[in-house]
Amino acid sequence: MTTPSETPRPGKEPAKQTFAAAGEDVDVVAISPVREEGMLADDALADPFGPDIEAKAKELAARYPQSRSALLPMLHLVQSVQGYVSQEGIAFCAHQLDLSEAEVSAVATFYTMYKRKPCGEHLVSVCTNTLCAALGGDAIYKRLQEHLGEDGKPLGHEETAGTPGEPGSVTIEHAECLAACDLGPVLQVNYEYYDNQTPEKAVELVDALRRGDKPAPSRGAPLSDFRSVELQLAGFFPEDDEAFRIDVDGPSQAVETLRGAQLAAERGWTAPAMSDDVPLPEVEAK
Ligand code: FES
Repeated sequence: MTTPSETPRPGKEPAKQTFAAAGEDVDVVAISPVREEGMLADDALADPFGPDIEAKAKELAARYPQSRSALLPMLHLVQSVQGYVSQEGIAFCAHQLDLSEAEVSAVATFYTMYKRKPCGEHLVSVCTNTLCAALGGDAIYKRLQEHLGEDGKPLGHEETAGTPGEPGSVTIEHAECLAACDLGPVLQVNYEYYDNQTPEKAVELVDALRRGDKPAPSRGAPLSDFRSVELQLAGFFPEDDEAFRIDVDGPSQAVETLRGAQLAAERGWTAPAMSDDVPLPEVEAK
């Protein structure tokens, strides 16, 4: 026998207590893991976004003919502040873009790059898609789960070793194809690539991150931290020209990636030319 909660009223007041479907002795909000991690903490509705973030949000909205188009970068902006998309981050985006919180939530929960739990200083994404998995990606992920877990309990997907946001904290996730299959198995730290990994190399890498070191990625920008990268994904780059050039001028190509093009050039192979007069299909009238 269960006792239903009061009918909730509209608005952003979180439910204080509910017994529905859990039996009358259990407060499912109080035991919810999301409460422990801060999503429903008592200060959850305090505004963590100051005037600087508000100005950046307005700048983003003004970049598009329709302000709602700024939602994706704005979600990265709120992640750059809190390390995840919190309920107040959702309310902030909705307010800035004149959307409902339901519309913002629908987007934030669809894309895996928007995190619903606070991330560590570093986000380690291990590719476990088909090719990397066959080359050892599954073994790498399992080894990291065991290595970073505590008391014999492996770390789970999107769980963090250390306190989220604190120096040396590391969140792990398994990821779909990271678009570097020729260099598999690969992993990324804050979306920078570490190619041709093994379980041993991956353990060395996360140990270095836990110590506060930032080993150089195989290519791309130097390693920074999750929140700084989120600010760049929102569209805000270092104003200092030298820092900007270091971020965008890192090596971006790999020998393996260019091998096919080089072979074709050596052998004089070219793709057949496209004809200019290919008839376009008729568009069906509705
Ligand atoms: S399958 Fe791992 S990068 Fe494509």
